Amino acid sequence: MTRSTFLGCLLAALTLGGLAVAGDHSSQRDGYRRPKQLAVPADAPEVWKSECSSCHMLYAPGLLPAGAWQRQMDSLSEHYGSNASLAPEEEQAIRDFLLRASAGNRLPVEGKVGSGEPPRITGTRWFQRKHHEIGAAKFQREAVGGPHNCVACHRDAERGDFDEDRVKIPR
Ligand code: HEC
Ligand code: HEC
Repeated sequence: MTRSTFLGCLLAALTLGGLAVAGDHSSQRDGYRRPKQLAVPADAPEVWKSECSSCHMLYAPGLLPAGAWQRQMDSLSEHYGSNASLAPEEEQAIRDFLLRASAGNRLPVEGKVGSGEPPRITGTRWFQRKHHEIGAAKFQREAVGGPHNCVACHRDAERGDFDEDRVKIPR
């Protein structure tokens, strides 16, 4: 690489970095952290496994920070347009587990503020960064069913395994 192309690349990188920061006004930049612990804890309660997988795949607690799970559990009767209410003791057991298992997660709570919808995993910046090369059309394929259906592409997602080497986007 010649000196001038090197400088050109450096300048381009700096400009892109600047744009990313400028677009980042919803929360501070150093609030961005990727999940630390994705594997599902071995002592996960059965009630969580059965209740939270009856309409969609089971989401590992490490995918959201505790504050986001709190908001999910506070609004189960209006859960993304569905009623996912539970008996009080089941709700408590699931809430205790999700908060305990996500306690080490430093992700910021992100979500469409004011929309009334609880935070989404697919709405976090780390999710968007990890998938920025995947076009919307691939997520909308019938065999995928939308970005929230991680298990379509990450076979072992329900165990909290998202290893890049095992990803496969179905046709
Ligand atoms: C009655 C059906 C139903 C039940 C039961 C249910 N959910 Fe959901 N959940 C939904 C629907 C519908 C969506 C929105 C899916 C979409 O994007 O179209 C959703 C979305 C989610 C999302 C956001 C996914 C994303 O886009 O990032 C999370 C997290 C979630 N549910 C957690 C839970 C947890 C935890 C439980 C158990 C307490 C649970 N769900 C039980 C129907 C349900
Ligand atoms: C349409 C298929 C598809 C869906 C659905 C999908 N992903 Fe991915 N994911 C990928 C691909 C492909 C990569 C690798 C991206 C790359 O290398 O640029 C990836 C990468 C990742 C990584 C990074 C893995 C690593 O080793 O760094 C994580 C974590 C991840 N996805 C989590 C999720 C979660 C959580 C969901 C559901 C809420 C999800 N993905 C839904 C295709 C998908």
